[in-house]
Amino acid sequence: MMNKQLRKAVIAGNWKMNKTPEETSALIAEIAPLAENAGCDVVVCVPYIDLHAALAATAGTNIRVGAQNCHWAGSGAFTGEVSAAMLAGMGVPYVIIGHSERRSLFGDSDGTVAKRTRAALDAGLIVILCVGEYIEQRELGITNEVVRLQTKVALKGVSEEELARVIIAYEPVWAIGTGLTATPGQANEVNHEIRVLVEELYGKTAADKLVVQYGGSMNAANAAELLAQEDIDGGLIGGASLKAADFGVIVKAASV
Ligand code: 13P
Repeated sequence: MMNKQLRKAVIAGNWKMNKTPEETSALIAEIAPLAENAGCDVVVCVPYIDLHAALAATAGTNIRVGAQNCHWAGSGAFTGEVSAAMLAGMGVPYVIIGHSERRSLFGDSDGTVAKRTRAALDAGLIVILCVGEYIEQRELGITNEVVRLQTKVALKGVSEEELARVIIAYEPVWAIGTGLTATPGQANEVNHEIRVLVEELYGKTAADKLVVQYGGSMNAANAAELLAQEDIDGGLIGGASLKAADFGVIVKAASV
């Protein structure tokens, strides 16, 4: 058996700062029939204020709901923040952590990403951990080192048992929202490197089971080729996840 078949693909939409609760219900109603017979896991990661609507709209469907960040503290004087325990308490199963927009625009660092990951795992959530290099780093030939470092810091203290609730999303920053997609070969190479690192840290069985997504301008036209790569087990989709038909095509491409 090819190792890829040990893993179920996960297609996750990252809606970023888009959609009101009303629009959330409407978009999920459009996506649900397209995802109904999916052979992959399907997740929509929505803004905090849309979580309630998303949970209601996905009830009875095979679509799961995620948030896009969480704070590391359980509660306290952190105005404007939301804790992992709050998400878990409301029945949200997934959370994205360390997205490049959180890192570059809102001060997230490898250290805070590790703290958020700890809190999310403690709360019982499934973490979609984002890593990826800037274009300057790729040009310097240090992509693998950057991604290894980000991954290693975030996984510090994560047990092998907890790793089963971690998905890693490789998102080259230069490919996000730019229409510039990594070639299937480029994406697969870094995804493979992440799996090699996880094998070094946890052993082969854990590495074989680890879901490693690709993200960055994945769309209806390029998804099939990316998802066919040995080490690409799904996608984290921005722009194309806001169009039900396109998202449906990507879900289908991951279901073969
Ligand atoms: P785009 O698909 O819009 O490039 O965004 C990717 C992304 O950042 C998903 O988290």
